[in-house]
Amino acid sequence: MLHPKLLVLDEPTSDLDAAAIAEMRELITQLKATGITIVIAEHRLAWLNGIADRYVIFDNGRISHEYEASEFLALSPGCIAAMGLRTLDLQPYRKRIALLESQTNECELTASDTGDGSNTTPLLSTRHLNIGYRGRDGFSRTVPDLDFYSGQIIGLMGHNGCGKTTLVRTLTGLIKPVSGKVMLNGKPAKPRDLTRAGFLVMQDVNYQLFSDSVREELLLGLNETNPVVIKRCVQVLENLDLIRFADRHPMSLSGGQKQRVAIGSALMCGKDLIILDEPTSGLDRYHMEQVGDLLRQLAAQGKTVLVVTHDEELAAGWCTAIINLEHPYLKTE
Ligand SMILES: Nc1ncnc2c1ncn2[C@@H]1O[C@H](COP(=O)(O)OP(=O)(O)OP(=O)(O)O)[C@@H](O)[C@H]1O
Ligand SMILES: [Mg+2]
Repeated sequence: MLHPKLLVLDEPTSDLDAAAIAEMRELITQLKATGITIVIAEHRLAWLNGIADRYVIFDNGRISHEYEASEFLALSPGCIAAMGLRTLDLQPYRKRIALLESQTNECELTASDTGDGSNTTPLLSTRHLNIGYRGRDGFSRTVPDLDFYSGQIIGLMGHNGCGKTTLVRTLTGLIKPVSGKVMLNGKPAKPRDLTRAGFLVMQDVNYQLFSDSVREELLLGLNETNPVVIKRCVQVLENLDLIRFADRHPMSLSGGQKQRVAIGSALMCGKDLIILDEPTSGLDRYHMEQVGDLLRQLAAQGKTVLVVTHDEELAAGWCTAIINLEHPYLKTE
């Protein structure tokens, strides 16, 4: 609205779905054609192919490399990865997601996916569930019957506004279902039971960081005098590259660092159900991969991991099943 000559965008796509990114790209192409200078700080690089003229790479507060677009786009995938940058080509990831989506349907989210088949009761299930917000014009939608088993990493995908956050808030008891049931270990569960059973890393982690230091944040609600708990806290801080920030105030950290603190709390909580809403939206390649590996560790410990994500690299690389809330077979309305 202000007709700027210079437009600076700080991770404009971090919470956007693929279609919204394509629209953003179109808008930026139009703005560029009017002669505006545009500077974009990004981790997700693929959508910039063909519209960015120069790439400037920062490392530790300094410029480490600078390229004309043609030079940058000619770099090999190995070289891009070695610089810690995310992929320039999403096609292989999209193929894998399409495969996982097609394999995952209501029937296939069954005990056979648990590997040894030993656990035949799902940890969490939905039955005839309708989610949303009450009131006139309030959003509501039905959710297919789903079963989530121990050891799975389930990706939950779908367009902006299709109800992913509303679903995970319902599954963790933060809001009540409009109708239908959520079951824990085969028994109908009240919102209170769900809040006790699961841990949610929120889409906006600013809502869930309460303590004065990163260390205290991870120890919240735990016995801080227990040496086993303290040792585990140090281990989690190390695993998430947070040890050097242990005494910092969480609000003094960058977006991606805050995200990792909230994930650290999830790793500490000891609950069987871990739900993460866009856990890698502000993360570079290295930290995205680190989060993916931690999710895998949680699943290997027998936890059920549900991850809401638009991050195609995370979904393709780490999810064992993908539910797209907008997949044709899930269109229930
Ligand atoms: N507190 C609220 N009260 C009323 N409506 C809401 C509330 N929060 C979200 N909505 C509406 O519910 C719908 C689903 O929102 P939700 O946050 O679940 O989407 P989402 O799939 O997580 O989207 P995104 O990919 O953008 O995070 C949207 O139309 C939104 O406007
Ligand atoms: Mg959301």
